[in-house]
Amino acid sequence: MTDIAREMTTLREQLRHHEHLYYVLDSPEISDAEYDAMMRRLQALEAEHPELTASDSPTKRVGGKPREGFVKVAHSSPMLSLDNALNEAELRDFDRRVNDLLEGKSYCYVAELKIDGLSMAALYRDGQFFQAVTRGDGVVGEDVTENARTIRSLPLHAKNRLPAFEVRGETVMNRQAFERLNGEREERGLSRFANPRNAAAGSLRVLEPQITASRRLDYYTYFLFVDGRPALDSHWQALEELARMGFKVNRHRKLCSSVDEVLGFCAEWEGRREELPYEIDGVVVKVDSVEQQRRLGFTAKAPRWAIAFKYPARQAVTTVEGIEVQVGRTGALTPVARLRPVEVSGVTVSRATLHNEDEIERLGLEIGDDVVIERSGDVIPKVVRVHAQGSYRRQFRMPARCPVCGGTVVREEGEAASRCINTNCSARLKESILHFASRGVMNIDGVGEALVDQLVGRGIVQSVADLYDLTTEKLMELERMGQKSAGNIIRNIQNSKKNSLPRVLTALGIRFVGERTAGFLAEAFGSMDRIAGAGLVELEQAEEVGPKVAESVFQFFREPRNQELVDRLRTAGLQFEYRSAKPKGGPLGGLSFVITGTLPTLSRDEAKQLIEGAGGKVNGSVSKKTNYLVAGTDAGSKLDKAHELRVAVINEKQLLDMTKQG
Ligand code: IVH
Repeated sequence: MTDIAREMTTLREQLRHHEHLYYVLDSPEISDAEYDAMMRRLQALEAEHPELTASDSPTKRVGGKPREGFVKVAHSSPMLSLDNALNEAELRDFDRRVNDLLEGKSYCYVAELKIDGLSMAALYRDGQFFQAVTRGDGVVGEDVTENARTIRSLPLHAKNRLPAFEVRGETVMNRQAFERLNGEREERGLSRFANPRNAAAGSLRVLEPQITASRRLDYYTYFLFVDGRPALDSHWQALEELARMGFKVNRHRKLCSSVDEVLGFCAEWEGRREELPYEIDGVVVKVDSVEQQRRLGFTAKAPRWAIAFKYPARQAVTTVEGIEVQVGRTGALTPVARLRPVEVSGVTVSRATLHNEDEIERLGLEIGDDVVIERSGDVIPKVVRVHAQGSYRRQFRMPARCPVCGGTVVREEGEAASRCINTNCSARLKESILHFASRGVMNIDGVGEALVDQLVGRGIVQSVADLYDLTTEKLMELERMGQKSAGNIIRNIQNSKKNSLPRVLTALGIRFVGERTAGFLAEAFGSMDRIAGAGLVELEQAEEVGPKVAESVFQFFREPRNQELVDRLRTAGLQFEYRSAKPKGGPLGGLSFVITGTLPTLSRDEAKQLIEGAGGKVNGSVSKKTNYLVAGTDAGSKLDKAHELRVAVINEKQLLDMTKQG
């Protein structure tokens, strides 16, 4: 082996090792920067030596190609579902049946948490991941290989020498990723996913692998199969083997020698389910011995050797004692049910969101009614339906005046929300400041609810721009504020000026303009002033900007108060220019590029920045409008498409030469 080949092998092994520590065991040992540096080195070596590149290299996760649709694939053996036991008696019945069928022989159970996700099979050949298939109808599923490849806890290379094997497990979205995704969707005017399970399903079944990658899914395995049958004689051993092979296996599992022990495990986790970062809806109980599983066999749709002990839905019945109205950043009034406090799986719930007037009407809800409430992944519980009408019920009416400032409330034609239209409303101001400072927007640590309440309450801050005029001394006048924390907050505020234009745009809180849209606007126009000055038709030229978004952006910059705010933020020194986009000038001005494959020295991001810095545009897919396809090694369908459409194909060196001209 040459030195280069040896270095590449070592890098691959190290990267796999650190990915396993990070994504599977949740205990990283090196910094992200060190990991990135190793990854970049391997990418560069692979680009120079394509002949030494392994197809299961850690570099092969990202950059999957969009698909036309999903191909149907038959499972090696049916992916069955499970019968349910809804209480202790039903679980004991199950145990009795097992006992009878096994004719008094001793047996053990494996109890595992039943994560609420989507089951998926992943197939490996010679230790390398090569295909992933959703459960589908149990017999035939859909090929989601490219999407599954982006799930970081699914190893692309397994530590096992079997020529072919299959694992089965659950694809899940944890609560945090779920909350983030729903937040982003709401910002963009899209509907929320009802629960993490739907969100996981929606994320796995998208045609664009980049989207799956951004959704941060996880994959927990629970079966190891060879030729459609369990690979080992004991299920417990199979779980241990899966973990050894580098797969993520839920560590909350138990080998039980009696049904009582199983019931103990079920009870324990029913009480502790809140501690978990993902949703569970019960416990799966399986007979451990595969030989005994075979003897027990199957009914038409489920195995006789396993059962799902289901936890009750996290619902409760309680009375709506009142409906309060909250005012959000855009002035939207949200009705919130004030409930007689009730415990739902260990948490006392006293409020539930009702979203808007239409929702209250849909539910047929009046104050005084008994309702069913449910917690399903969201932080705020929701009202599912009216359980019984109250004997003294009172209809809710959206107030005509804002409950915070007394300003006029209007509900525009075609809109679900009623809004306070007073831009000086203190509730709106507080929410705007919190949004401005929040994580992922301007990221100003220390500017939270308590501080904002005081700043707005005392009239110190009357606009987000006032944040930049604050001083340590001024903050020290506030309650419980020492010099050190005040100094830190001021430093964080000053540091926030370095945030890029898309962040600043997001921070303005323009309706329908979340992080993603802000990025496209910055990309298309290159500066705050060009966006502010753009007409509706121009705005709609930007990617993913339709009439609704364009109208909202246009109106925002026509409003004198907003113009004043933007001017003040400019004076404060925030970033109003977008460095990577120079649409007209530069040697690549007016040219459109697509990048594919692995380039010898530049990462995708670097190539993109280089092109944009020279005035060019980078798109995700090849079309007739594409001027150049920049192709590295392992270029796939984009290269075919470029040939088909006669788009010029260049390599990295040619690209570098082009950017230097002019
Ligand atoms: S075993 C034939 N184990 O629950 C055995 N399923 O209600 C089938 N699930 O479709 C599945 N965690 O989506 C099994 N540890 C676990 C599980 C699990 C979650 C899901 C899976 C399955 C459903 C059955």
